[in-house]
Amino acid sequence: MITKMKINFFYILLIFVLNACTNSTKNRSDKKKKELNVKNLYNIHCEACHGMDGTKGVSGAANLKVSKMTEIQIKNTILNGNEKGMMPYKDILSSDTEIDSLVSFVKSLRN
Ligand code: HEC
Repeated sequence: MITKMKINFFYILLIFVLNACTNSTKNRSDKKKKELNVKNLYNIHCEACHGMDGTKGVSGAANLKVSKMTEIQIKNTILNGNEKGMMPYKDILSSDTEIDSLVSFVKSLRN
């Protein structure tokens, strides 16, 4: 009786441990995928002027490493472009998720 309970307990524990392991690897690969995607997006839409590190400065593009914009200002810039008509990406980027991940990518270039 007691040994049977012990065995049951052991199995339950095993299931918990296995579950925790598969979950953590899944989360890690999801995160990596997201990072890859946003890099891709930035590469396609922004790299030409800003460069992968934000300092390229083609046709007067702002240095994103030293930008002091808030997240909302960055988002507005990406959506509506600036007063010179640069970067009106509203109709090009397909989702809020894409825009939000670009905003955090732009912020992550500062350090
Ligand atoms: C055609 C060239 C070009 C492309 C492509 C481009 N930008 Fe820009 N970007 C500019 C220019 C030029 C400025 C600065 C304009 C100014 O000083 O008024 C700027 C400014 C910015 C700023 C404001 C920074 C600050 O502090 O003033 C942000 C944020 C920004 N760009 C993000 C992006 C993102 C994100 C993308 C891709 C979705 C992108 N840009 C694509 C040319 C470009």
